[in-house]
Amino acid sequence: MNKDHLIIFDTTLRDGEQSPGASMDIEEKIQIANALSDLNVDVIEAGFPIASNGDYSAVKEIADSISNSRICALARALEKDILRAADALKNAKYSRIHTFIATSPIHMEMKLKMSPEEVIKNAVNAVKMARDHVEDVEFSPEDAGRSDFNFLCKIIEKVIDAGASTINIPDTVGYNLPHQFGDLISRIIDNVPNSNDAIFSVHCHNDLGLAVSNSLSSVLNGARQVECTINGLGERAGNAALEEIVMTVKTRRDIFSCDTRINTKKIMNCSRLVSSITGFPVQPNKAIVGKNAFAHESGIHQDGIIKSRETYEIMKAEDIGLLSNSLVLGKHSGRNAFKQKLDELNIQYTSDDAFNDLFTRFKELADKKHEIYDEDIIRLSNNIPLTGDDIQLSYMSVVCDSHKKPNAKIKLSIKGEEREATAEGDGAVDAAFNAIKAIIDLKVDLRLYSVNNITSGTDAQGEVTVRVVKDELIVNGHGADTDIVKASVLAYLNAINKIYQNPDLATKKLSGI
Ligand code: KIV
Ligand code: ZN
Repeated sequence: MNKDHLIIFDTTLRDGEQSPGASMDIEEKIQIANALSDLNVDVIEAGFPIASNGDYSAVKEIADSISNSRICALARALEKDILRAADALKNAKYSRIHTFIATSPIHMEMKLKMSPEEVIKNAVNAVKMARDHVEDVEFSPEDAGRSDFNFLCKIIEKVIDAGASTINIPDTVGYNLPHQFGDLISRIIDNVPNSNDAIFSVHCHNDLGLAVSNSLSSVLNGARQVECTINGLGERAGNAALEEIVMTVKTRRDIFSCDTRINTKKIMNCSRLVSSITGFPVQPNKAIVGKNAFAHESGIHQDGIIKSRETYEIMKAEDIGLLSNSLVLGKHSGRNAFKQKLDELNIQYTSDDAFNDLFTRFKELADKKHEIYDEDIIRLSNNIPLTGDDIQLSYMSVVCDSHKKPNAKIKLSIKGEEREATAEGDGAVDAAFNAIKAIIDLKVDLRLYSVNNITSGTDAQGEVTVRVVKDELIVNGHGADTDIVKASVLAYLNAINKIYQNPDLATKKLSGI
């Protein structure tokens, strides 16, 4: 059977970034956009350019550099939003403007204070305006899941006439049930006279834990685009998880008459990257990408798996990029073995210097840790180089005594000049951060501190993410080490260096949006 194409529209960088505490800076957004392009995502919603200068620059840089996926920018049904989105997208090889306005009675009356006729007029104008700048325009009736059916059909017909080629039906507050939402999609397609001229999409939120089910039910009822995020990141309880949608459609080919073009072997890499950048760990029992998703603990299951994998597995771990022989190198491994491993893991380096830098870090890690797993090498390759930073760690000593307050001595090299301080704290990390603050005259608020172990065991690398706020600037810092206090210090210094070196890197939200 010739299957339809199911368009995967990833909104990790827009709706995902709206997740409380998940702000990313431009460098991090570009890293994620590259990973999404590698994954073969059809459309990357890169941001909401009117929301902030940081969002505008991120969309622009992504649009300027990525050509494997269509780059989409979000805009309210307002002229200033559409102009800003169009400007950010102007160099994109393939671009899309996604414009939206709310259509539910509660949103129209309480939020927009507009009559239904005014909402239709604004939506049609917005789509026409967007079409003046790009060929590909998507329209979303926000809170469609609680909108009046006849009104929905009316506005959809008008925006298709005005030039929208994708109609996205959002369940903005995650209120619908799978049979109900699927039915809504098929009724819209049947009742809108010009529905053949558009692709129908869905955008489901996970407030009741039904985002993936609602999306898949819609696909069974005619939707041919799903909006989703890596690890299900997103506003409140999140959006539909990309990896669950893609792997369900792939695994249940017998049920779905469509397929995606996603390179599923890159799923794990993307999931780890998003988790590491946002500092949001993936729960161990999360479908597809959780640490336990392919682990078999009970004797009966292990016995079954040894006899035949299909007894307890419906997917192959390798299909999402998990490698079966994950124990690899050690401190005696040489440059050739390391190079071969990088090739196997598809880790690219741009020059001999970059390779040498990676190899040196691998050797340093191998000195501390006997067994180097693929996950360790992936983390090493994502690590932010500390060379070139104005502020570098020269020395640290932290003393924890069960009868005294922890005490830290930190020595930093600031543009080559050595400075040191000693401080106490409520814990080892707190003491170390206090010592750094005593050296650097910079007041920052710590908003997030998250530790994630990269592999298991007490010698595993700990990966620390911190988020700090300086005035209105928000930056993330990352650090990894076998010692989590040192990983924390590296993460903290990474964030502080970003503030010092390039304030524009930070995401600075404008008020009122
Ligand atoms: O949840 C929602 O309704 C949205 C729209 C902007 C599509 O994110
Ligand atoms: Zn949303």
